[in-house]
Amino acid sequence: MRRALISDIHGNLEALETVLRDIEGQGVDEIYCLGDVIGYGPNPRECIDLVIENCAVTLLGNHDQGAMFDPDGFNVGAERAIFWTRGQLESSTDRAGNERRWEFLGELPRSHKASPFLFVHGSPRNPLSEYIFPEDIYNHRKMERLFQMVDRYCFQGHTHVPGVFTEGFQFFAPEEIDHEYTLGDGKLLINVGSVGQPRDGDPRACYTILDDGDGARAPRINYRRIPYDFEKTIQKIHAIPDLEPFLGDRLRQGR
Ligand SMILES: [Fe+2]
Repeated sequence: MRRALISDIHGNLEALETVLRDIEGQGVDEIYCLGDVIGYGPNPRECIDLVIENCAVTLLGNHDQGAMFDPDGFNVGAERAIFWTRGQLESSTDRAGNERRWEFLGELPRSHKASPFLFVHGSPRNPLSEYIFPEDIYNHRKMERLFQMVDRYCFQGHTHVPGVFTEGFQFFAPEEIDHEYTLGDGKLLINVGSVGQPRDGDPRACYTILDDGDGARAPRINYRRIPYDFEKTIQKIHAIPDLEPFLGDRLRQGR
């Protein structure tokens, strides 16, 4: 089975549409979304609708939760964006659609297991909101604890920084592994990257294909980087006073 793993769309419709088009040509059986469909970006409703339509599994992200309940631990700009997003989902112009969207968000699970794979938004210890950054490889106690909580392979998003963490305290960015990795005997934590707000210095949308090998071959992943029209997204963000201009500008830098 081939899965496309997308995450952290953050209301970026241009990025999501472009990624979904790319996925169409990849012979994928199912699309999983690892959370943060909304927050930051200008098209929360459209992005939720596309995820409902296309994804077999969708997990709850901290921004999705922030839109439903009181946002906790967000900086001022992110919090304002969340309140604006909530307003979009409460607007009276599309009552039936918004009801469907709230219902969808309200039922999202925090993790999904399809042995030997575990899928979360943040980390196996705190699926919703713990960050695992590349520099955490120097925090051996943290990494050991996280790996203890994983049977084999855990896929996550949340940091918007794609790459593979090994039990030997290594981190491989996609370009260091030629965008491909064979999942071997050791445990792995794998960040699938961000569709709508990459933060590894590459502004292209990022997602991951997971081919489980159908029991005959070792599972493999490959990272896809897809250029999209971020100038259009930036323009939309700049036109919405409640979204800080920085939320647009950062798309150009991939930061
Ligand atoms: Fe996110």
